[in-house]
Amino acid sequence: MSSKPRQLLAVAGSLRRDSINLALLRAAALLAPPGLTISVFEELASLPLFNEDIEAEGLPLGVRRLREAVAAADGLLIATPEYNNSVPGVLKNAIDWLSRSAPIGVLTGKPVAVIGASTGSWGTRLAQAALRQILFATEALVLPQPGLFVRNANSHFDEGGRLSDETTRGSLRKLLLSFGVWIDVVYAQPAATSVNQELSDQPAGGDSPGALVRR
Ligand SMILES: Cc1cc2nc3c(=O)[nH]c(=O)nc-3n(C[C@H](O)[C@H](O)[C@H](O)COP(=O)(O)O)c2cc1C
Repeated sequence: MSSKPRQLLAVAGSLRRDSINLALLRAAALLAPPGLTISVFEELASLPLFNEDIEAEGLPLGVRRLREAVAAADGLLIATPEYNNSVPGVLKNAIDWLSRSAPIGVLTGKPVAVIGASTGSWGTRLAQAALRQILFATEALVLPQPGLFVRNANSHFDEGGRLSDETTRGSLRKLLLSFGVWIDVVYAQPAATSVNQELSDQPAGGDSPGALVRR
């Protein structure tokens, strides 16, 4: 569990009203351990397709609202569906908007956790792998483990869209606990620039971190 109260923003990569990924995030908000508060962002449909011309004219309201919500959050929880073995376009589009460094890079150094649910039997494994690759480019700091791959997901929710499968509820709880610890770890680190400075001050050779970085 996190040592400090933490606010998370949760984003589902689906615009569908009855999205199982949105339902998974709503379940996460209810299952969050003490000290962790989760708000679900449900406005991805307000983002235009990324276009540098639009960006140059000024960020649209929907983009500003998402960027501000991410900037204000201690961490970002993303639940992705899988579309054609990858992430849905709406999620990639949102990350493209978030990835821009001006006026500030809101994903740089941001703790992020990735989960996903699909009706297929692989539980978004390929989508999550693709999402991790995308997030690597943004310099977000993605929770390495555990993962949560909810397969055959329709059977895990009741008619009201509530997560009813006890095993999945337990896995989600465990992931949220780990994410709280990960957020503490990330914010306990000095800024990346000072780490780089420290490493470059160390003599090369042996097993010093400096030597590892230079290799
Ligand atoms: C265009 C499209 C492509 C899909 N491709 C995959 C896929 O590659 N693998 C998979 O497991 N499910 C695939 N699905 C099924 C989705 O996992 C399923 O529709 C899921 O419920 C979508 O998430 P949502 O309920 O959060 O909207 C696809 C669905 C759509 C609409």
